[in-house]
Amino acid sequence: MIYKELKPFPEHFLWGASTSAYQVEGAAAEDGKSPSIIDMYEHPSDVADFSVASDHYHRYKEDIALFAQMGLKAYRFSVAWTRILPRGTGAVNEKGISFYRDVIAECRKYGIEPVVTMYHFDLPWCLEERGGWGNRETIDAFVNYARVLFENFGGDVRYWLTINEQNTMILHPGAIGLPKGGKLPSRKELYQQNHHMMLAQARTMKLFHEMVPQGMIGPALNLTAMYAASCRPEDAIAAHNWEVLRCWNFADVPVYGWYHPLAWEYMNDRDIAPEVQEGDREILKDAKPDFIAMNYYSTATIAASRGDASDVAARAGDQQIMLGEQGVYRPAENEYVGKTQYGWVVDPVGFRYTLRKTYERYHLPILITENGIGAPDILEPDGSVHDGYRIEFIREHLHQMRLAITDGVEMLGYCPWAAIDVVSTHQGYRKRYGFIYVDRDEFDLKGLERHPKDSFYWYQNVIKENGESL
Ligand code: BG6
Repeated sequence: MIYKELKPFPEHFLWGASTSAYQVEGAAAEDGKSPSIIDMYEHPSDVADFSVASDHYHRYKEDIALFAQMGLKAYRFSVAWTRILPRGTGAVNEKGISFYRDVIAECRKYGIEPVVTMYHFDLPWCLEERGGWGNRETIDAFVNYARVLFENFGGDVRYWLTINEQNTMILHPGAIGLPKGGKLPSRKELYQQNHHMMLAQARTMKLFHEMVPQGMIGPALNLTAMYAASCRPEDAIAAHNWEVLRCWNFADVPVYGWYHPLAWEYMNDRDIAPEVQEGDREILKDAKPDFIAMNYYSTATIAASRGDASDVAARAGDQQIMLGEQGVYRPAENEYVGKTQYGWVVDPVGFRYTLRKTYERYHLPILITENGIGAPDILEPDGSVHDGYRIEFIREHLHQMRLAITDGVEMLGYCPWAAIDVVSTHQGYRKRYGFIYVDRDEFDLKGLERHPKDSFYWYQNVIKENGESL
C-alpha cells in the first residue's frame, strides 16, 4: 500500500528502551536476593555469567539519568521475583521492594514512564526444586507475587507485562539455558508448564484489574510473521502451521481464553496436550489483557515438511535453537531479507507485516517491548562507539512502524532492546544491544563506565522530533 501521506507517531507515544533484571542488575546474591533458575544455569565457560552483569543494581541512578538525557519517555525493566520473595512466596524482602521503589521514583523524577515486566525467565530456584512450572502450586505462588507487586507499585506504575516470551521458554527451552546437571523437559511437560503459566497469567490479569483499575496489563510475546518459501500450497500450509504454533497459540489464550484450534488438535494428536482441570477454562475466559506487548527481531521463511528428520536444523549461528519439526514445517532461506553476523534475519518490512497481522487478529493496541540488533560494538580510545548499523536497523524498523500506524495499527510505544548494554542470554558481552556502552569484557570487569554510543544521540533526536523525519 502506497499512501499519499504518512500518519505521524501518536502524541503521547512511549519512546522507550528495555532491559531485564538478570541481564543488567548484577548483585545476584545481595540484599537478600535468592538464586533464580537463571543463576543456577550451566554457563558456557567462555561467556560472562550474570553475577555482576552491567551493575545496574548499584548504578541505576547514573543509568536513569543517562536515559533521561537520551529523552526516553519509558523504561521497560523487569522485577526479579527472587529479590521480592526470596523463598518464592512467604516473607517479603523489604530491601527488594525499596530497590524497585527507588528505580520507579528515579524514572518518575525525569518524567520517564516505568514499564514493568513481572517475570523475565527467572523463576525462583526454590520453586524450581519443587517442580517449577510443572507444579500447579507455582500458579498460586505467581499470583501471590503479583499481589505483592500491585500492592507496592500499583499506584506508581501504569504499564505492566506479565510473562516475557512464554513462547520462547516453551518452544526453545534450551535457548535460555539448562540447570547444572539438568535435562530439558519433555514436550508433554513443557505444554503442561505452558498451561500453568497461562492460568497464572489469567488470574494475575484479573487481579490486576481489581487492584490497579487505572493501569494496563498484557503478555509480552516474541511474535514473528512467517513467509511461505514459495507459492506452493503445501509451503503455505507449513508456514501457517508454524505461525500458529509459535505465535498465535500463545496470544490467543490470554486474549480469547482458549488455545488456537489448530494448536489444540496438534497437541492432542501428538499426546502433548495439557491436563486441564475443572474450572481452568473459566479462569482463562475470565481475564483480558489491555494490550499486546511484542518482542520482534526477525521473520522466518517456511517450507513444507518432508516428513523426516531432515526437517530439523540448528538456527544459523546459534546451536542452541533448533528449527523445524518433522511433519510440521522446515526452515527455508529467504533471499529477500538480510542477516546479522549472528545469523538472525533482519526484516524491517516483516515488522510492518507482523504488526498488521497481530492487530488484525486481536484488535488491541501494541507496545513494542523488544527490537534491536546484537553486535560486537567497539569502544574507541576517545570513548565513542560508532554503531551506524544499529541506527540503520532501528531507523528502518521505525519507518516500517510508521507505515503500520498509517495502515491503522494502534501503537502505544517502542521500547527497543536495549537501553544499555546487557549480558546477551548466551553470548555474553561480545554481543551488545544497548544505546549505552558498558565498559567491561566477558571476564574483565574493567571500570564498568558508561559511554553513549552514536545511536544514543541519534535516538535522542528521533524522540525530540517525535519520529517526524522517519
Ligand atoms: C529476547 C529476550 O528473546 O531476546 C532477551 O527477551 C534477550 O532477554 C533478547 O536478550 C536477545 O537475545 P540474545 O540471545 O541475543 O540475548
